[in-house]
Amino acid sequence: MAKTPLFSLFHTISLISLLLIIQSPLATSHTLNPLPITLSVTDFGASGDGLRYDTAAIQSTIDACPDAGPCRVTFPAPGNYLTATVFLKSGVVLNVEPGATVLGGTRLEDYPKESSRWYVVLAENAMNVGIGGGGTVDGQAGKFVVREDPRKNVMVSWNQTGACSGDECRPRLIGFVGCNHVEVSNITLNHPAYWCLHMVRSNNIRIEDVGIYGDFNIPNNDGIDIEDSNNTIINRCHIDTGDDAICPKSSTSPVYNLTATNSWIRTKSSAIKLGSASWFDFKHFLFDNITILDSHRGLAFQIRDGGNVSDIIFSNINISTRYYDPLWWGRAEPIYVTTCPRDESSKEASISNILFINITANAENGIFLSGSKRGLLRNLRFINMNVTYRRFTSYKGGLWDYRPGCQGLVKHNTAGMMMEHIDGLEVKNVEMRWSNEQEQPEQWNNPLEFRPSTVNNVNFVNFNSGFYTNSKPSL
Ligand SMILES: *[C@@H]1O[C@H](CO)[C@@H](O)[C@H](O)[C@H]1NC(C)=O
Ligand SMILES: *[C@@H]1O[C@H](CO)[C@@H](O)[C@H](O)[C@H]1NC(C)=O
Ligand SMILES: *[C@@H]1O[C@H](CO)[C@@H](O)[C@H](O)[C@H]1NC(C)=O
Ligand SMILES: *[C@@H]1O[C@H](CO)[C@@H](O)[C@H](O)[C@H]1NC(C)=O
Ligand SMILES: *[C@@H]1O[C@H](CO)[C@@H](O)[C@H](O)[C@H]1NC(C)=O
Ligand SMILES: *[C@@H]1O[C@H](CO)[C@@H](O)[C@H](O)[C@H]1NC(C)=O
Ligand SMILES: *[C@@H]1O[C@H](CO)[C@@H](O)[C@H](O)[C@H]1NC(C)=O
Ligand SMILES: *[C@@H]1O[C@H](CO)[C@@H](O)[C@H](O)[C@H]1NC(C)=O
Ligand SMILES: *[C@@H]1O[C@H](CO)[C@@H](O)[C@H](O)[C@H]1NC(C)=O
Repeated sequence: MAKTPLFSLFHTISLISLLLIIQSPLATSHTLNPLPITLSVTDFGASGDGLRYDTAAIQSTIDACPDAGPCRVTFPAPGNYLTATVFLKSGVVLNVEPGATVLGGTRLEDYPKESSRWYVVLAENAMNVGIGGGGTVDGQAGKFVVREDPRKNVMVSWNQTGACSGDECRPRLIGFVGCNHVEVSNITLNHPAYWCLHMVRSNNIRIEDVGIYGDFNIPNNDGIDIEDSNNTIINRCHIDTGDDAICPKSSTSPVYNLTATNSWIRTKSSAIKLGSASWFDFKHFLFDNITILDSHRGLAFQIRDGGNVSDIIFSNINISTRYYDPLWWGRAEPIYVTTCPRDESSKEASISNILFINITANAENGIFLSGSKRGLLRNLRFINMNVTYRRFTSYKGGLWDYRPGCQGLVKHNTAGMMMEHIDGLEVKNVEMRWSNEQEQPEQWNNPLEFRPSTVNNVNFVNFNSGFYTNSKPSL
């Protein structure tokens, strides 16, 4: 069942790429050879010594590729290729060999004038582009830390130009903007200074065998941000970072058809988060076989701006969530489904047809399901779940978290499942276990809390809630 959309998407993409391979030589009559030509940045003068800027050599290599490619630009190992922004063009795939690293520059003048184009590697309006090869791209985030702080590091801000504000004024690592047929595979992305991998207004994206190692204490260190883009496959990724790990956003157009499978996530914020930029719809997503460890929030919808969400499946997911410093968004909820207007000018939006199936969760806080008056949660289903609640950190609980905007943080006892403004809720084969260890920082064991008169069409089948003891360990 869960496999159907995944495979049809794979099929669609491989068929399309097959057609491209067959058609492009005829269409462009550049070459009869569909194999890419390979150019090495060292042949164009790159030093790879990590001290001198190799920007000109790297860019010349890319520019030497035939128009529309296919062309592979190789970064030989060993080597550390320090560079200002590298601009990809159609048909070019960067091939960073195992043992080679592309090092992002740390000076403002290494990046284009407009802050929206601050990336170490950037492709704009290109086709058949990508990066891979088994090597590493490193954003040198450590050099952007002004002061280490055990709660959250204080970062450099390049806002002196007025281009952007506050501490969100740092370069991202890799961006594909307005691209078609993007492949990021077999690459390690280390220490981004800000967001890591950003897809914007792009189509037909494959992100596979990618390791993302951000800094657990650097704010806005997102893993993968899929913005205004369609037909994305994320597979076999390992994401260990400070901020949201997989984060679809809609700012100028909707996000359709996103599949993320066989992946591992640890984050100090949300592992999977839809929003909070949510002006347009999110539709037809599948998240399957994902492990989420020690994160501040597991599966999250943070819908605030009027875009409606529908047809989302989460299957075979193992989640553990815990509290961290409250400076970081998240309140240890394993599942967090919220839609509310960000502010007075925001439209209300609904979240419909959401299935959670085969979910294991060990968490310090309950499941939070909150629609709003004219933006309901409709047809939510929770099937085959084992949820275990145990408090073990000493951070204070007892807060409902509506941030950003809406009602903000509200003091309230927490429950195993908190529900408001829902039409259609099915809970089937769900086992909720509670720790009653005496040393717990807070005792709480209210399994279900309904906001009166806002939750309708409810169906509980085989729902159990009870204590577990040490002789009956957590699931
Ligand atoms: C990644 O690339 C390296 C070097 O080409 C190769 O040896 C390795 O098999 C690739 N791994 C995957 C998962 O494709
Ligand atoms: C830049 O950001 C810093 C830190 O957030 C802030 O104190 C300062 O006022 C900002 N300056 C400008 C010009 O935006
Ligand atoms: C994604 O699909 C929607 C719906 O067809 C469309 O409006 C939008 O322009 C598409 N986005 C891209 C980047 O192709
Ligand atoms: C989403 O995927 C379906 C196939 O599963 C396809 O028919 C549809 O065109 C895709 N939507 C967009 C916007 O590409
Ligand atoms: C689930 O994903 C893991 C990688 O995180 C992989 O090792 C495992 O084989 C996958 N399981 C299935 C059933 O595909
Ligand atoms: C969300 O759905 C509502 C109700 O159908 C509709 O009025 C609104 O325009 C939708 N939002 C968007 C961004 O399409
Ligand atoms: C879930 O992950 C935890 C580690 O966080 C592991 O101990 C447990 O065995 C896993 N459970 C399942 C059902 O995979
Ligand atoms: C929940 O635990 C039971 C054993 O008590 C097990 O049979 C079942 O497979 C588990 N379900 C999930 C989704 O982990
Ligand atoms: C849920 O788990 C059961 C038992 O492990 C399995 O048979 C079923 O295919 C799973 N469902 C989905 C949607 O993956």
